Amino acid sequence: MDVLLTGGAGYIGSHTLIELLACGHRIHVADNFANSSPEALNRVRSLSNRDFAFSRADVRDRAALIALFQEFRPEAVIHFAGLKAVGEGEAKPLDYYETNVAGTMNVLDAMNAVQCRRIVFSSSATVYGEPEYLPIDEAHPLRPASVYGRTKHMAEQIIADWGRARPEASGALLRYFNPVGAHESGRIGEDPHDVPNNLMPYISQVAVGRRAKLSIYGDDYDTRDGTGLRDYIHVADLARAHVAALDYAAAHQGVEAFNIGTGAGFTVHEMLRAFSEACGRDLPYEVTARRPGDVAACVADPSKANRLLNWRAERGLPEMSRSAWLWQSGNPNGYEAL
Ligand code: NAD
Ligand code: UFG
Repeated sequence: MDVLLTGGAGYIGSHTLIELLACGHRIHVADNFANSSPEALNRVRSLSNRDFAFSRADVRDRAALIALFQEFRPEAVIHFAGLKAVGEGEAKPLDYYETNVAGTMNVLDAMNAVQCRRIVFSSSATVYGEPEYLPIDEAHPLRPASVYGRTKHMAEQIIADWGRARPEASGALLRYFNPVGAHESGRIGEDPHDVPNNLMPYISQVAVGRRAKLSIYGDDYDTRDGTGLRDYIHVADLARAHVAALDYAAAHQGVEAFNIGTGAGFTVHEMLRAFSEACGRDLPYEVTARRPGDVAACVADPSKANRLLNWRAERGLPEMSRSAWLWQSGNPNGYEAL
């Protein structure tokens, strides 16, 4: 299939790109490198031994997107491009609405211009807000508690309305839980440009000596050891979910949401222990106050994706930590040269 990836140079996009190339899809990546590096794409080329097209493009630029789509004429789009830092979203809400909501509308407009009818969208478990029950299935109420979460919820609704207006259209809204880990080669991985917000990249940077110690945000939650519990999913499993979603979109009509998680949760202490085993030493930490907005536990019910996408997460916690450590230890400064 001819597939256009917006944001394909990013963390999840680059891992998905490798899977898609291995399956023989023809790819065009569009990215403005707002939060990624051309080096990620160079490494995908050498790891996969396959080529793909690239355009430096901004999803906020509707006219440029339409021109790009008219040139490549994709049969499907995987729309990763977006801003994802929860705190930054609160400080710069209009930037988040512009990129995540208006950007998604531009992508749909460009698809319309070339009669492209299939989209796979990067959504997030954050659209559910505070869990009312666990595990969370797709029927759980949608009450996002942040600007970032609301942009994802709005983009989902826009895609669903776009799909309703076109009976032949299909869309898969993939609600990722907590993606972690790296490609098994350790050559591509997560490379946050600022101080990491998320647990696994923070632990990795402590392990490699870039940060002094991990702050554990509270150990008085109602979980098995008092620290926050999340459904961590290996990025390689997440990448395979996109391939499955593309196949699903090719064979079905309508827009569907899917939880992409494992169905199991791990606490912060468990993540730290697993990472310490991977890197071979105990890592320093201190317990600090709770982070505002955090919930005690968040776990997916992934059975809809298991059933309809014929996909399931296969990699466990040791592989998540081992691959993250292989990436971080081999690339202590990410894609930046030493
Ligand atoms: P990332 O920042 O590594 O990747 C996003 C990519 O989009 C980057 O390459 C960035 O340069 C590009 N981009 C940003 N703004 C752009 C613009 N205006 N025009 C073109 N390209 C632009 O993030 P990621 O972790 O790979 O996330 C990919 C998608 O998945 C995002 O939409 C994110 O919101 C969503 N998501 C991520 C997580 C997570 O924990 N990583 C969880 C749920 C959902
Ligand atoms: N945590 C720490 N110390 C850190 C970072 C995180 O103790 O330095 C803890 C958090 O309190 C939480 C767990 O580790 O209990 C996981 O935190 P992350 O920030 O890695 O992940 P979240 O589940 O909080 O955030 C994720 C996505 C967000 C999304 C949010 C809500 O990264 O994009 O889920 O669904 F908004």
